[in-house]
Amino acid sequence: MDVEVRNAFIDDADVIAKVHVDGWEATYRGVIDDDVLDRLTVTRRSQQWAEALAHNLPVWIADHEGKVVGFTAVRADELSALYVSPEVYGQGIGTILLAEAERQISEDGISTALLWVHEKNTRSQDWYEKRGWKKTDELEAHRIGDLSTGRAVKMIKPL
Ligand SMILES: CC(C)(COP(=O)(O)OP(=O)(O)OC[C@H]1O[C@@H](n2cnc3c(N)ncnc32)[C@H](O)[C@@H]1OP(=O)(O)O)[C@@H](O)C(=O)NCCC(=O)NCCS
Repeated sequence: MDVEVRNAFIDDADVIAKVHVDGWEATYRGVIDDDVLDRLTVTRRSQQWAEALAHNLPVWIADHEGKVVGFTAVRADELSALYVSPEVYGQGIGTILLAEAERQISEDGISTALLWVHEKNTRSQDWYEKRGWKKTDELEAHRIGDLSTGRAVKMIKPL
């Protein structure tokens, strides 16, 4: 699939939120409480993304023919988010965004990147492992917004 990766701007907050909420639904329905998923709204998430973008959180989006089909965000040494629209999974977009996020972290002079992934999200853990990431023994609370949603495992990758 032909995609262009570019920096996100505040105006992208709505579409980023839509990809994010769709990604949670596809990944976590049946894994975490339905109550939590049912309370997630694009509107609320959009406000949070607009705020993050206003504070210059580095976010990149993958654009396919004018439509946002994925995004990634980094915070210092952490890959803090990577989501692709579920309808275009498996077409290489996640791999492109991951490379962009890793490039950004390494350009900041950081030699080891980290991320946290839900301990039951084994599909994504396997996906990262195929791309050079390794699981550690470190676990912490997994949260979606201010809601507690189980535990997350830390993964790292030397850059
Ligand atoms: C993990 C994720 C970013 C991968 O993005 P993607 O664009 O589907 O990945 P790519 O197309 O670049 O990678 C293709 C690989 O995914 C596999 N794949 C996983 N799910 C797939 C699906 N539903 N359809 C097709 N292929 C799929 C392919 O077999 C292929 O395998 P490979 O590793 O042998 O190459 C994406 O699935 C996603 O957004 N998941 C939900 C959010 C999430 O868990 N994020 C990570 C934790 S924050």
